[in-house]
Amino acid sequence: MGHGNLARGAWGVTGTRAPLPGVASAGESTEIGPCERSPLAELAFGETADRREPARSRHLAFMPADTPLLDLKDPDQRHFGGYELLELLGSGGTGTVYRARQAALDREVALKLLAAGPWASREFIRRFEHEARYAARMEHPNIVTVYDVGCHEEIHFYSMRLVRGRSLSARLRSGEHFSPEAAARLVRTVAGALEYAHGMGVLHLDLKPSNVLVDANGVPHVSDFGLARQLQGTPVIDNDELSGTPTYMAPEQAVVHAYKLSAATDVWALGAILYELVAGRPPFRGDSVGETLDMVLEGHVREPSRFAPALPRDLEAIICKCLYKDAVQRYQTARALHEDLTRFLEGRLVHARRLNLLQRGLHWMLR
Ligand SMILES: Nc1ncnc2c1ncn2[C@@H]1O[C@H](COP(=O)(O)OP(=O)(O)OP(=O)(O)O)[C@@H](O)[C@H]1O
Ligand SMILES: [Mg+2]
Repeated sequence: MGHGNLARGAWGVTGTRAPLPGVASAGESTEIGPCERSPLAELAFGETADRREPARSRHLAFMPADTPLLDLKDPDQRHFGGYELLELLGSGGTGTVYRARQAALDREVALKLLAAGPWASREFIRRFEHEARYAARMEHPNIVTVYDVGCHEEIHFYSMRLVRGRSLSARLRSGEHFSPEAAARLVRTVAGALEYAHGMGVLHLDLKPSNVLVDANGVPHVSDFGLARQLQGTPVIDNDELSGTPTYMAPEQAVVHAYKLSAATDVWALGAILYELVAGRPPFRGDSVGETLDMVLEGHVREPSRFAPALPRDLEAIICKCLYKDAVQRYQTARALHEDLTRFLEGRLVHARRLNLLQRGLHWMLR
């Protein structure tokens, strides 16, 4: 399961299930919104949350959320506002996604019901709706368009373009092999989508294989710009309470309040995805969220060629340039990464490697 944390920051609580419908549980934070639940929310979430502060720290990656799940055999649950739920597509840290029919427009969409909906704080909902507006403005062939955002019977949702295919995580899980060229081409397309989003002042901040949906033609579509923050006219934003998925998270994102986030933060995630595509494993994955975070912060990235000996040196140099702990040493823009991947695909010397060679030459001269 993913560890997306759009919701968790605002709620600031954990969410395992316990009984007592409509009644706030002990230790409830004042951040929590209304707890009077509708019958549908009651069915979706089952039981109320056990709200404990995470043991290790306030980092959002430690905070699991409640996942809404509806019974599609029950007509009362199948009909959700203006939508009819047709099939469960999957669930992650931020909610549950259904294939659904939007009755008014007679079209199929993907409908995401957000986790812990009934307990979302007003601040979270305000921010979520604000961010959904940015996601809805993005018109790009490789970005999943957000159609609608709303709340039905206290379950917050958004609908988006349905991508018929499989997520990159599903493809990786089924053991699919990606050649270096295929991996470079796919990530280059995603980098192009990111370049567009960054140009609109939006960072993704939760890029990972499950948020890259690959259609039947093999074309990737980036979903869940949910954690996205506006760049607000500056190249960086504060990392206060937001989070991504630790396995693909840049070091500056793994420390609350410590660093600034920038386009280079998304570049890290692209590098981590590319690493996994060619090496069959992500650069860092511990046995627990905490262990993964420690590895992201302190661990050394092992060259992907250790797991894929035939990996071209130029592609390895590109991946390693995305994964510098110090954001300043990474590609500063998705465009720069896109260009270097193009150089690789066209058989030209890539900038990442040229720099390495220059540095090595300098080192040799100074000896
Ligand atoms: N627009 C979409 N079209 C088709 N399938 C989708 C769409 N959005 C999501 N899915 C499917 O639903 C699954 C669950 O998505 P969801 O975003 O809830 O989980 P996640 O990406 O693993 O975690 P997170 O909640 O952190 O984003 C995805 O892996 C994907 O298979
Ligand atoms: Mg997702």
